[in-house]
Amino acid sequence: MPYFCAMQLMDGKLASAAIKQKVAQLVQTRAAKGLKAPHLAAILVGTDGASETYVASKVKTCEELGFQSTLLRLDASTDEATLLQHIQQLNDNPDVDGILVQLPLPKHISEAKVIETIHPSKDVDGFHPVSVGRLVQGLESFIPATPYGIMLMLEHFQIPTTGKHAVVIGRSNIVGRPMSILLSSQLPYGNCTVTVCHSKTANLKELTLQADIIVAALGRPGFLTGDMVKEGAVVIDVGITRVPDASKKKGFAIKGDVDFESVAPKSSWITPVPGGVGLMTIGALMMNTLAAAERRS
Ligand code: GUN
Repeated sequence: MPYFCAMQLMDGKLASAAIKQKVAQLVQTRAAKGLKAPHLAAILVGTDGASETYVASKVKTCEELGFQSTLLRLDASTDEATLLQHIQQLNDNPDVDGILVQLPLPKHISEAKVIETIHPSKDVDGFHPVSVGRLVQGLESFIPATPYGIMLMLEHFQIPTTGKHAVVIGRSNIVGRPMSILLSSQLPYGNCTVTVCHSKTANLKELTLQADIIVAALGRPGFLTGDMVKEGAVVIDVGITRVPDASKKKGFAIKGDVDFESVAPKSSWITPVPGGVGLMTIGALMMNTLAAAERRS
């Protein structure tokens, strides 16, 4: 006999506003102690539309929270060596606390080399192998913004995780992999039993039907449908695919990996898209940048 539960929305606007307010207060506390504002340096190579939007929003949030920010815009034809030199200069600049190079990069530049050139103490994206290794070992580390934002969201809405079965769909370095590590860690809002699914998983629906918590991070709009979800599951949608939509001013709509209409009635908690996880990521980046500044001072 299925039981019916009232679905509750994990509203990213509410949760991210709370995080930003907390960070802004901590920046003021630093100022009162005579410590400098945290300084985030962002590098944008080329003019990809989505990347432009993300970087602009990161810079704007820096202003709102009292951070210092520097945006370095480089032409899409910039060669790898030049980009690495810019990163090195930011590594050596004692005023800069955090460095991020917006991904994806043009094909002729190695993302791995770029990530490894950022000094681990300034790696506020948490992509450097040192950061990933520290995260895996449960040491203090920078946590990549999307999984960190999801952990902050679970905390904000006080969603119990201990002993739950979490199914993470996707194994990317940016989301799925670190998410699976965090959910299985001993952190508050960890302690889950985690199954990581990906494009080669044979019996995906069988697994998602067993999940108390599902994190959908595969980048396929509307992939997770109601028939794949257990009654009462917590559903977290990481998808942000731009789908052409002539009725929108910009000509596209942002679609999540979850078919909200069929999944929401079965879930206990669900994140909307837009207005969910996406809004949390910048707050998480600001938390990392503040932490970087705190460690340096
Ligand atoms: N591209 C998509 N997500 C991210 C992110 O979290 N950081 C950076 N640097 N690039 C991205």
